[in-house]
Amino acid sequence: MLTQAVLTLLAAAAAVSATNLFVSDYGGNITTFALTANNGTYALDQTFQTTKCAPNPSWLTIDVNHGLLFCMNEGLTSVNGSLSSFTINHDGSLTHVKNETTVSGPVNGVIYGNAAGQRGIALAHYTGSEVSSWLLEGGGKFELNQNIPYTLTQPAANPARQDAPHPHEAILDPTGQYILVPDLGADVVRIFSWDSKSLDLKQLASLEVAPGSGPRHAAFWNPYAVTGAGSPTFFYLVSELASSVTSYAVTYLPNNGGLNFTQVFNSTTYGLLDLPEGNAPAEVHVSPDNRFLLISNRNNTSFHLPQPDGTVVPSDSIATFRLLEDGTLAWVQLWPSGGLFPRQFSIDGTGSLVAVGNQNSQNVAILSRDVSTGLIGEPVARMIVPGNTTCIMWDQVNANA
Ligand SMILES: *[C@@H]1O[C@H](CO)[C@@H](O)[C@H](O)[C@H]1NC(C)=O
Ligand SMILES: *[C@@H]1O[C@H](CO)[C@@H](O)[C@H](O)[C@H]1NC(C)=O
Ligand SMILES: *[C@@H]1O[C@H](CO)[C@@H](O)[C@H](O)[C@H]1NC(C)=O
Ligand SMILES: *[C@@H]1O[C@H](CO)[C@@H](O)[C@H](O)[C@H]1NC(C)=O
Ligand SMILES: *[C@@H]1O[C@H](CO)[C@@H](O)[C@H](O)[C@H]1NC(C)=O
Ligand SMILES: *[C@@H]1O[C@H](CO)[C@@H](O)[C@H](O)[C@H]1NC(C)=O
Ligand SMILES: *[C@@H]1O[C@H](CO)[C@@H](O)[C@H](O)[C@H]1NC(C)=O
Ligand SMILES: *[C@@H]1O[C@H](CO)[C@@H](O)[C@H](O)[C@H]1NC(C)=O
Ligand SMILES: *[C@@H]1O[C@H](CO)[C@@H](O)[C@H](O)[C@H]1NC(C)=O
Repeated sequence: MLTQAVLTLLAAAAAVSATNLFVSDYGGNITTFALTANNGTYALDQTFQTTKCAPNPSWLTIDVNHGLLFCMNEGLTSVNGSLSSFTINHDGSLTHVKNETTVSGPVNGVIYGNAAGQRGIALAHYTGSEVSSWLLEGGGKFELNQNIPYTLTQPAANPARQDAPHPHEAILDPTGQYILVPDLGADVVRIFSWDSKSLDLKQLASLEVAPGSGPRHAAFWNPYAVTGAGSPTFFYLVSELASSVTSYAVTYLPNNGGLNFTQVFNSTTYGLLDLPEGNAPAEVHVSPDNRFLLISNRNNTSFHLPQPDGTVVPSDSIATFRLLEDGTLAWVQLWPSGGLFPRQFSIDGTGSLVAVGNQNSQNVAILSRDVSTGLIGEPVARMIVPGNTTCIMWDQVNANA
């Protein structure tokens, strides 16, 4: 009898699994939530909180192989922003290492360089109209390398949002040779290579996009999951002001000379549905199964979500497209994001959960996702955060713990 009871307990313990999520919000906090799954039921519990990236954390970059988290403070009401670093502990708590003043408005960052040698982090500064690069020195220490300022070279098509260049993201191409920076204010995607020793960024020919379209975030796709100059490569650019997703076939120029783009597809981020007025897409990702493209749509309240307490809340949406071999997209689904202004979302390693940061609802929603059909489904968990949500990341460092 005792043996049976112990076995039952062991089985129950094995069925319970926890994953950590890091969430930043404009109110000044980074919060760790533990998502616990128990026999198909999920619970989301706050386990840690820090204000060491205050006042306005806008983005979290996780350095998986070094167990580090970098946080960008946008500095919404101050002259400067800042870059903060943390070590990620086994229990999902964060130990602060450093907070360094930057030019204003960092909203995104990417780690680059030589995995076995000198590495750096490049930041996109929205209000500061700059790209900066920092040298990583191990253990979360870092120092400034470059500030690269930009000015508009021609009058803006949309003066209200394009008063100046506004770099919005920094991502690596799939080979890790180039950094791409969509600039919402200048209607270009800036492209950089770098010196392998100094990590100094070197600007190459930009991708020029439709005037007034406002490129914001982007994702790459290799249809056969093989990277390199000889393999098909596509680039999906989400433009906030045009509410569009544009796909390009990408070729690699010789001698590390940059990238060449040929547009193969363009659509609104509502696919086959009517685009609502004022829609402002934000985040874009390829699913881990490499078959679907997901995009968040903000600034509409078309959906209404019934709550357990009987009330109804408005919601924005996540759009899903199927990736076709020729780089074009097939429409799949529009689904509520679980709140207003889904500024950012991340998909877990299995592709079965989508964590959404709904900025103006000050919440996070964990949505279920059918990996085989790509269809997003009901939220499995939801949590209020103490400020406007800006970023939510899965703890990939402890993912196999
Ligand atoms: C952080 O969150 C707490 C609630 O957990 C809140 O009281 C506080 O205002 C937030 N921001 C800062 C900067 O402390
Ligand atoms: C697990 O959930 C199923 C379906 O809800 C239920 O029938 C079963 O009793 C649950 N098992 C345990 C150990 O709670
Ligand atoms: C980090 O640095 C910025 C810029 O100097 C400053 O405004 C902010 O208060 C600092 N944050 C913390 C938590 O010390
Ligand atoms: C802070 O902002 C000012 C004004 O834009 C700028 O001149 C200065 O270089 C910034 N400080 C740092 C450390 O980037
Ligand atoms: C893509 O579609 C959007 C929305 O219909 C449109 O505004 C934009 O001009 C198009 N862009 C290109 C490059 O065709
Ligand atoms: C880029 O590709 C186009 C074909 O799409 C070609 O006409 C053009 O010469 C290429 N540019 C460079 C710099 O190789
Ligand atoms: C959302 O879109 C619908 C359909 O286009 C439109 O009627 C409604 O006014 C929009 N709501 C907001 C808040 O923009
Ligand atoms: C939201 O939509 C309204 C019109 O419906 C527009 O005036 C406003 O600029 C939009 N906001 C953003 C952030 O795009
Ligand atoms: C924060 O969210 C509120 C709605 O809850 C919105 O009115 C406000 O513009 C947002 N501010 C920022 C900086 O995100």
